[in-house]
This record gives sequence, C-alpha cells and structure tokens, in this order.
Amino acid sequence: MSIEIATASLRELGKLDGDRIIIGEIDDKLLNLPSYRDLYDRWERQQWSTQNLDFRVDRQQWSEVPEQSRPIWMSAFVNFLQGEVSVTNTLIPFCAAVPTEEQRFFLTTQLSDEARHSIFFERFFREVLMLDGPDIESLLVQVRSFLDPASSKILVDGLAEVGQRVHSAPKNMDYLVEGITLYHIITEGTLALAAQRDMLKRNKRLGFYPGFQQGFTAVARDESRHVLFGVKFLRDMVQESAGFAVIIRNTIARYMPEIHATLYGSDAQRTVMASLGEDPDDVLNFGLNSLHKKLKVIGITPDFNG
Ligand SMILES: [Fe+2]
Ligand SMILES: [Fe+2]
Repeated sequence: MSIEIATASLRELGKLDGDRIIIGEIDDKLLNLPSYRDLYDRWERQQWSTQNLDFRVDRQQWSEVPEQSRPIWMSAFVNFLQGEVSVTNTLIPFCAAVPTEEQRFFLTTQLSDEARHSIFFERFFREVLMLDGPDIESLLVQVRSFLDPASSKILVDGLAEVGQRVHSAPKNMDYLVEGITLYHIITEGTLALAAQRDMLKRNKRLGFYPGFQQGFTAVARDESRHVLFGVKFLRDMVQESAGFAVIIRNTIARYMPEIHATLYGSDAQRTVMASLGEDPDDVLNFGLNSLHKKLKVIGITPDFNG
C-alpha cells in the first residue's frame, strides 16, 4: 500500500525512503509554490511527538558500533544537533521582522518545529548516544570537537551574526533577505537537505536506528515546508525589487567555500562512504543541484563556481 507523505504517521514515515520525502516534497511544489497559508495548513495536519519515539533498538545498535567507526556517525549527529539549536535561536528575530502577518503566522509554526527538532536530537543524544548533562548546552559542549569547521562557520557564526543584525534593525529588508538566504536556502535547503537525504538513505539500507529514522523523517518533512517558505519569500521579494537579487547572489557567493567544503565532506567521511559502496560525491552533486533549482525558482540565474 502506498503511503501518503502529507498525512503519514511516525511509523509510516519511518518506512519511506529519503528521496521520496525530500525530492517528492520539495521539487514538485517548486513548480507551483504553495501560499504561506497553505504551508501553515500543512503544519496543522503534520504534527508529531518526540515522546512517541522508541529508541530501544537504536540504543542496542549504537552499543554495537565499533569504537573506531563512531566518530563518523557522531560528526553527522552533532552537526544536526548544533544546527537545530542554532536555527531555533536565529529564527526569533526573523519572526518579528517579516513584513506580513501571513509570513509571521507561518514562521511561528517553524519556530515550534525547530524547538521540537532540537528536543528530538537531545533525546537521541541522551537515550542512544548516552551523553549526560543538565541541559542541551552542556551536551553541545561535550561534543563540540565533532563539529565540522566549515559548517560551523555557517551554523554557529554566520546565522548568529545575521540574526543579530535583523534583531537590531528589523525594518531593514536587506538584512532579512540575507538572513533568509543563509537560513532557509543555504542551511536548510542545501546543507541540511543533502545531509538528511544521505543519512536517511544509509540508515534505511543498513536497517540502522529505527526510532531515529521515524523522527528524522518527520524532521525532513517539516524542513520541506521551511524550505518552501524561504523560496516563496525570496521570490516575492525579488519580484518586488530586483535589488534583492543582488543580495541573494552575494550571500551565496560569500558562503560558497563553506557550502562546497561541507557538502564535499572530510577525507574520513569520504573513505567510509566509499567502503560502504557509496559515491562520495553524491552529497555534493545533490546539494549544488538542489541549490541551483531553488535559485532558478526565486528568479536568479546561478553562475557560481560550485
Ligand atoms: Fe529543523
Ligand atoms: Fe527548519
């Protein structure tokens, strides 16, 4: 029986393959972008709970992962935990700065999604990876060494810096356009999307982490709504004033070295991928291709050396 992504339960989501969630949910809709209200309505229909996930099998499987293979998995998990915490914080000033109520209604739903995603990862770190500490910050401090330096420039430094500018000058639409480009298009729509697809596909193929797979597929479905919001917002802004296109292009160009390095991955990651029979360039090719598709819908011809 085929599973309807839009209304699938957590259990059903865990059985889907990553491409269906990620490509199916975004690519088709790029051709005919939903309205802000459509995206809000989808959020109301697509609620899920971190409390309904069962991590017992995940915990057993993690305990059997050999010590030398753990850093590769940890690095991916830590980048996601840090990413979710960073985007939760950055979104707060964006909610206040967007110019219309329809945009604000949607962004408040995204804010609650990002908090839920952070809590999902926190639970996974505590219950499967067996980290301990009084709060999420203390967990992040313990695993900071696994954070990839290129993605950290975007997830930690870049998002905080533009978030601060949007916070101090909420009426400055140049800052907001830059912020949404870095947040929704680069972080969510390129880096997270490509990494999610990669991890969902690998876990499914290997039968790894079934509780995580259910929650992470629900995360990916949420992220597809966020990315569509970003594409719609930037397309609306470019149609209002072509000057915003320059800001979007400059933001992509400024971060292209980090985008490229993050998608390319470390030598250690590429070696593990090759040993699993995977193409190490798949994440890079998928990520850049998907970035170009979104820029085209926004109304920008990409000519970046990716
Ligand atoms: Fe998220
Ligand atoms: Fe998101």
